[in-house]
Amino acid sequence: MGRLEGKVALVTGAALGMGRSHARLFAKEGATVIITDVNEEAGRENTQFINDAGGKAVFLKHDVASEADWKQVVDQAIESYGKVDILVNNAGILLSKSLEDTSVEEWDLVMNINLKGVFLGCRAIVPAMNKAGGGSIVNISSIYGIIGSPDCAAYEASKGGVRLLTKAAATDLVKHKIRVNSIHPGMIKTEMTKGIEDIPEAAAGIAAKVLLGRMAEPEEVSNAVLFLASDESSYVHGSELVVDGGYTTV
Ligand SMILES: NC(=O)c1ccc[n+]([C@@H]2O[C@H](COP(=O)([O-])OP(=O)(O)OC[C@H]3O[C@@H](n4cnc5c(N)ncnc54)[C@H](O)[C@@H]3O)[C@@H](O)[C@H]2O)c1
Repeated sequence: MGRLEGKVALVTGAALGMGRSHARLFAKEGATVIITDVNEEAGRENTQFINDAGGKAVFLKHDVASEADWKQVVDQAIESYGKVDILVNNAGILLSKSLEDTSVEEWDLVMNINLKGVFLGCRAIVPAMNKAGGGSIVNISSIYGIIGSPDCAAYEASKGGVRLLTKAAATDLVKHKIRVNSIHPGMIKTEMTKGIEDIPEAAAGIAAKVLLGRMAEPEEVSNAVLFLASDESSYVHGSELVVDGGYTTV
């Protein structure tokens, strides 16, 4: 029996990268997965992949920065499945720019997707989780929601916001029996970090900073997300789980 048997899970930004991997693992563990993303083509490809492998997945086009999109997606989930048990607020974008080089438009874009998107999701999902009798929300922050790094101002501010928004949501949503936790990945091989390892200075930096000496595969984060999403983490609430190969340890 799968670890998410009977659960309905919504994963945002699940067309590519880590979201794609989380959706695949959830389906393998028996969940019905609602894959949402702005990238329709890749989202549909991942949905097809899961269904071809014997899982249950559906794709919905969804911009996490849009309140109207959130309403549509949650209404559709309730109509199709009657409830949502798990929400992974995974969609995000990176802006590699210093504070002085960041325009107001860029700041707003990063904040709208990375932080407002998580706020909208935590708020919109409540009626669907009430129908499930409770639920688990996993917010994807970053190690850059905990520590600083050059040329990453808006991204870090957004991810630091997700870290504390998670604790606020844990406090406010507990009355609905909704657990809320954050995940803080380090250096993960996805579209977002494509090619980093091929740049000699970057590769040397990773080897020097990450105790395990390497970047991670998306699946190594998915295993942590699965734990927080499942009932196995029934007493884990308002916490932050760092998955960074020891990057922030020293
Ligand atoms: N890759 C890393 O090393 C790393 C480290 C720490 C945290 N993260 C975080 O993990 C999450 C996933 O990152 P990834 O590396 O898989 O990124 P990715 O770029 O590979 O994939 C992100 C997905 O989000 C989707 N997306 C972008 N904007 C969206 C929007 N407005 N609405 C809906 N979907 C949208 C994209 O289409 C894409 O499918 C992000 O929140 C990211 O900030 C990544």
